[in-house]
Parts: sequence; C-alpha cells; structure tokens
Amino acid sequence: MENNVRPATMERITTQTLAEAFIQEQVANIQAQVGNKKVLLALSGGVDSSVVAALLIKAIGKQLVCVHVNHGLMRKNESEGVVEVFRNQMDANLVYVDATDRFLGLLAGVSDPEKKRKIIGKEFIEVFAEEARKLEDITYLAQGTIYPDILESIQKAEGKKAVKSHHNVGGLPEDLKFELVEPLKLLYKDEVRVVGRALGLPAEMVDRQPFPGPGLGVRCLGAITRDRLEALREADAILREEFANSGLSKKVWQFFVVIPDVKSVGVKDDSRYEGWPAILRAVNSKDAMTATVEEIPYEVLHTITRRITAEVPGINRVLYDLTPKPTGTIEWE
Ligand code: XMP
Repeated sequence: MENNVRPATMERITTQTLAEAFIQEQVANIQAQVGNKKVLLALSGGVDSSVVAALLIKAIGKQLVCVHVNHGLMRKNESEGVVEVFRNQMDANLVYVDATDRFLGLLAGVSDPEKKRKIIGKEFIEVFAEEARKLEDITYLAQGTIYPDILESIQKAEGKKAVKSHHNVGGLPEDLKFELVEPLKLLYKDEVRVVGRALGLPAEMVDRQPFPGPGLGVRCLGAITRDRLEALREADAILREEFANSGLSKKVWQFFVVIPDVKSVGVKDDSRYEGWPAILRAVNSKDAMTATVEEIPYEVLHTITRRITAEVPGINRVLYDLTPKPTGTIEWE
C-alpha cells in the first residue's frame, strides 16, 4: 500500500530533463524487477499504455510482448497507427488481434448502454486472455495504471457510486495470475505525457484525447450496426481533420461524433434521402467530472457539416450538442 502513495517530496515532472531522470530510474527498476523474464501488456494505443510500452521496450526490448486487441470500435486508422509505431518503428514484439467480428457479433441487437459496456469489457478480457494463454513463460503483466486510477480505487473502496462501468484489463481469469509492473502508478496524466515525449513517441499519440475503453461502441447509440458504425468512423475522422485544420484541437479537451439510431427525412439530388444525424460534441474539462461546451466558430461548424453530409453515406444532418456536464455526461452512453 505504501508503494501506492505519492511521496510529498516527489517533484512534478514538467521538463524533458526531469522526464529523462524518471525514465532512467524506471528502466533500472524494471530491469531489476523483471530480470530475464517476459512481460505482457495490453496495448490499446492510449497515452498510458503507449508510454508503458515505450518504457518497457527501452528497459527490456523483446522480453515485452504487447497485445493489441482491435475490437472493431477504434477510430479511423487508430489500430494501424499502433502497429506502425510499435512494430515498424520501435521494433516491438507486438501481437495484433483483429477481433472485430467477435465483438460486433456479440453486440448485434443489444441496445442497452450498460449491457453493451459489459459485453465489450468482458469480451476484451476474454480475447486478451486467449492470447495470453497462447504465449509461454510470461511472468509479469504491465499496466498503464496512473495516480488518478489509484486515487479513484481508494474512493471506490470508500463506497462511492460509479456513474458508468469503465473497463480496463484488471480481472483476468484465475489461471492467469501475473505479477504486476506498473511504472507510471505515481504519475499524473500531464507527467505521463512529458515522459512519453521524452521517450520519442509521436505527438498524436502522446497528446491523444481521452477515448473510452468501449470506443465508438458508446457513440454508435443503441444497437450497433456496421453501416452506422462506419458512418460514425468517417464523420469522426472529418471532425478531427477540421479541428486540426482550424487549430481547435489544441484548445478543446475532447471532441467526437455521436450517431443515434434515428433517421429523419432529408433531400439529396432532388430525391427523398432518409439518413442519420451526426451529433458533434466538443467539451473542455480538467478531470472529466464536469465539462463545459466549447464555442466553435460557425464557419468551422459549416465546413464540418458540408463535408460530413457530402462525404459520409447515410448522414443527412449535423447537430451540435450544447449540453454541459452536468446534466449531460461527456459520452452519450
Ligand atoms: P462521462 O461520459 O462519464 O465520461 O462523462 C467521462 C470521461 O471518461 C471517458 N470514458 C471512459 N474512459 N473507459 C475509459 O477509459 C471507459 O469505459 C469510459 N467511458 C467514458 C469519457 O470519454 C470522458 O473523457
């Protein structure tokens, strides 16, 4: 337990120099802990798991086995980016699993948000466990636990009620008991990003906005279908491109598209055109407990609207969600 408390004397990692000192210390710690044994890591491509991967690659190279599970609910080009950075650029030992059909099969016809989250979380562990069983001689499991996760689990232990069930790789089946390697567990998020930059990870990975574990699954509202999920992925990519073009990506904490399971009547090429609405969400927040809605220039909203309705089959309207948290949560499910 003591190891899980950040010492009051620990300096905040704000500079490259401090990050390098931290990296050096952790590399030595990891080498001492792990020796010549193998370590497994679920690499989602999020900031925390990516920084853990880069740190472990530096410390133990190919003794680290990364498993990237593509649940089919990733954003456009995200899984491809994980493979490019870790396998091609960092020469990591990376197992890539395309489990899209499994996840979408299980989710077919399921519209209840909590049921969807449970299915995705459970199947994620199942797929990861299957891969872990195929590997031999794994002793350790690395996790991208950071200090706020530790503080949150203390709060949970004190009996506060969670609004949504978030998922991570905790809770592996009984036969898979590993010792944990958690090199970031005393760091705050901003420090993890500084360390990631010092490790040479690309900016789009280090500065990545929060992305829920269940991915686009909680943004493709109600029962997920492949065509609506594809429309969501394309519309979301356009939103991200236009936010980058207009400089908004640097000012807005989190932004994404949501598509409800509703169609409205529209018109295209002089014909009736029924389609879904794409709902844009762009919020600022410090800790995700509350959030304010960002003012987006009309010009940018018009450009995004024009592009989404022209380029994404199945979408005939674009809406902007003006609801702060509370009363809306950041995600719609
Ligand atoms: P809500 O929707 O509860 O979201 O206001 C707060 C923040 O948490 C993110 N989020 C998740 N993150 N696993 C995660 O790691 C999850 O299951 C999950 N669900 C929501 C959400 O994107 C927002 O930043």
